[in-house]
Amino acid sequence: MDHRAYIAERIAAEGVTAEELAEIIAVPPDPSMGDYALPCFKLAKLMRKPPAVIAQELAEKFVPDGVVASAAAAGGYLNFKLDRRALFAGFASEFMEGDISGGLPYGASDEGRGKTVCIDYSSVNIAKPFHIGHLSTTVLGGALYRIFKYLGYRVVGINHLGDYGTQFGKLISAYKRWGVREEVEKGGIHAVNDLYVRFNSEATEEMEEEARENFRLIESGDEEANRLFEWFKSLTLEYVGKIYDRLHVSFDSYAGERFYIDKMQPVIDELKEKGLLVESRGAQVVDLEAYDMPPFIVLRSDGASLYATRDLAAAFYRKKTYNFDKCLYVVAYQQNLHFRQLFKVIELMGEDWAKDMVHVAYGMVSLEDGAMSTRKGKVVWLEDVINRCVEKAAKVLEEKNPDLADKEDVAEKVGVGAVIFGALYNNKIKDIVFSYDKALNFDGETSVYVQYTCARCASVLEKAAALPRGDMFAVEPNDRELELVKSLSAFPSAVRAAAKGYEPSTVARWCVDTAQVFNKFYLDCKIAQAESDDARAMRVFLTEATAACLKRGLGLLGIGVPEKM
Ligand code: ARG
Repeated sequence: MDHRAYIAERIAAEGVTAEELAEIIAVPPDPSMGDYALPCFKLAKLMRKPPAVIAQELAEKFVPDGVVASAAAAGGYLNFKLDRRALFAGFASEFMEGDISGGLPYGASDEGRGKTVCIDYSSVNIAKPFHIGHLSTTVLGGALYRIFKYLGYRVVGINHLGDYGTQFGKLISAYKRWGVREEVEKGGIHAVNDLYVRFNSEATEEMEEEARENFRLIESGDEEANRLFEWFKSLTLEYVGKIYDRLHVSFDSYAGERFYIDKMQPVIDELKEKGLLVESRGAQVVDLEAYDMPPFIVLRSDGASLYATRDLAAAFYRKKTYNFDKCLYVVAYQQNLHFRQLFKVIELMGEDWAKDMVHVAYGMVSLEDGAMSTRKGKVVWLEDVINRCVEKAAKVLEEKNPDLADKEDVAEKVGVGAVIFGALYNNKIKDIVFSYDKALNFDGETSVYVQYTCARCASVLEKAAALPRGDMFAVEPNDRELELVKSLSAFPSAVRAAAKGYEPSTVARWCVDTAQVFNKFYLDCKIAQAESDDARAMRVFLTEATAACLKRGLGLLGIGVPEKM
């Protein structure tokens, strides 16, 4: 049960909705004051009364029930105490309904049934480096993909490949000039990228013209040009595919920019019919001056389409093909203007689904100074970051536990997890400076801390397995147990909030908070040596529930949990 929502429901009155109240209800810093508190000063304006009066009146009206044992006014606050046994019983029955009696797993729901969410994420550029800048879009998109699925939505993951443009003409020119088949086969995407970089640094005007001609050849269906293009494409996809596997992300569609080339004309025609297309210095544009934005360029003066044109066609295609309820674009904030323009143009075309388009913008990830020696201006490949983090994880694990079994597998889970968690722990719009040492700190706000807590749960459960368990409902939870129950009960709302705000960090934070609460419980409450079989039963159950929820929380983020650490 979501206790905030429950309390809010119980006190909703006088022009304040339960939803508004639920957002205000907080957990007091000192649990002896109560389990939850309503800061009434936040209502004073709305209800036109002093906070202390609001608290007093609400307290007087409140009738305790099986869940909320009391509501007491203290100055401008209304403090609630929950019934401990009811709290535990409520959580236990909900958890067991899903996890033990075969219902939906705890925290999952079917609220999204019948609804479709398209998520455009990772969207790699063919033959270009897959670099650290792609980390956030890939793991944020992957997390949202799983989170929406968990809530019962149909989710369509789309990798909108950057596979169109004159750079492919350059690449063909470079390959024909300097390329050696075996070397490219061996070097893969790195070799392809080297060719491209070399072309750009050595290109003469003549070579540029040749590149343009090669691009035209791809366009006109020339067999050799297309064969080369497809080859570069498959090298890229094979390469990123391995990284996707390690990051646990997958896609339902790889329809990239090229896919939309023959789907643009009807949309351009429609723009014309609706009188939205105007000429500006030879180009065809949609004027957005009234919305304080520069014009949205649909066709360049030479008639060529742009990134924006392809995105416009893609949006219509997605609506037609998937009939989405939401279409998310997980793309860096640098493209804010592009998406604002795109969504506005769709709105001006009279499509009411323009309101369902969401740009899920995120901040930049950079590496701590000196974390990777790169020559100035050289990109940091994401694969190198992952490999290095896994190597470092192996070292840390070796120091902590030299006898560990399956070392490689554990290091992979810990190292990859640290990279993912590093990108997901903070509010997505913040710029992040990634530090290997911080990300691999066993005592920090890290995935390895959460993973370690899971392993601790597993070892507790192993030790307690053969010991008698009494009736867990026969004891009243103590402070620590209660705190853990509350933290576990917050899992479903953390998942829902992550979907609602397109903010997986909500789940990441929930994982760290709950791991911290469990570790306090673990220090203070004996489990194997519990004072009674009933107490042991409750603690073992809470440990099982913690392990299951933490594993699921990390799983939603794309992070695996080793059995032992
Ligand atoms: N490939 C693009 C880039 O690297 C991102 C594409 C995002 N998706 C989209 N539909 N525009 O900047």
